[in-house]
Amino acid sequence: MNNKNNNIKNSSLIVANWKMNGSKTKIREDLQCYVKNKDTNTENIIFAVPYLYLALMQQAMWTTNAQYKIASQDISRFSGYGAYTGEVSSSMLPELDVTYSIIGHSERRNLCGDTDEIIAQKLHNLLSNQITPIYCIGESLTMRKSGEYTEFLLKQLDVFLEVFSKTQVVTQISQTSQAAAPTQSATSDIIIAYEPIWSIGTGIIPEIEQIEEIMNLIHAFVQKKLGHVKIAALYGGSVTSKNITEILQIPSVNGVLVGGASLNVDEFIQICHKAQL
Ligand code: PGA
Repeated sequence: MNNKNNNIKNSSLIVANWKMNGSKTKIREDLQCYVKNKDTNTENIIFAVPYLYLALMQQAMWTTNAQYKIASQDISRFSGYGAYTGEVSSSMLPELDVTYSIIGHSERRNLCGDTDEIIAQKLHNLLSNQITPIYCIGESLTMRKSGEYTEFLLKQLDVFLEVFSKTQVVTQISQTSQAAAPTQSATSDIIIAYEPIWSIGTGIIPEIEQIEEIMNLIHAFVQKKLGHVKIAALYGGSVTSKNITEILQIPSVNGVLVGGASLNVDEFIQICHKAQL
């Protein structure tokens, strides 16, 4: 199966998920290195930093003419504006040139109580604001060992499908009734990241065949149910400069989501360098 057919990007996407890490100083210092380097100063690199630093990322992008893209690591389940103390709305993201947002990460699901219902609301809000979702799916070790992980992952994809199908209709109707349609800033319609929970932050990488099986599953699902949609399928979980080449050699992998290894400048440059080869 040629799974790159419905993928619009020829180069691999690299999402750096900083999680709850970073500082103003680190951002300034790291970006200075990244904009000078041809492997990291590219629009295929997406930095997902804490909310607090999104404006700084935007400012640095403008002043240095950098090519990177910006993502939020999450978004509110509530839409628009209103009395939701502590929440950040997807309507606010375009103002900061944030064109991507991670949702459904297992740390949100397991540590912060994000249910399928909440993730569906977040997805709807992102799509309504023309933000490309980076929708994470992934099974626990127990689920994998039970042998029922495929059904489990397909259920997570079904949540995506249901919201996506409904939101597309609403968005199209609202766009035709508006004088100015929202800007289409993203390069692929959707990004789905497969992140086996047992691999996140553990240094354990699945077998290449195991990654390939799920990547093929994602592409087949999207092709069958959402044929017209441009998708990038990413792998995430203990990606480093040592294993990235092998991972990206899998035809159905369109990029990677990097956590811990994206915090170290030299290591991240190596990862990006190998991804461009
Ligand atoms: P890791 O995290 O690269 O540190 O395993 C990946 C992720 O959680 O996105």
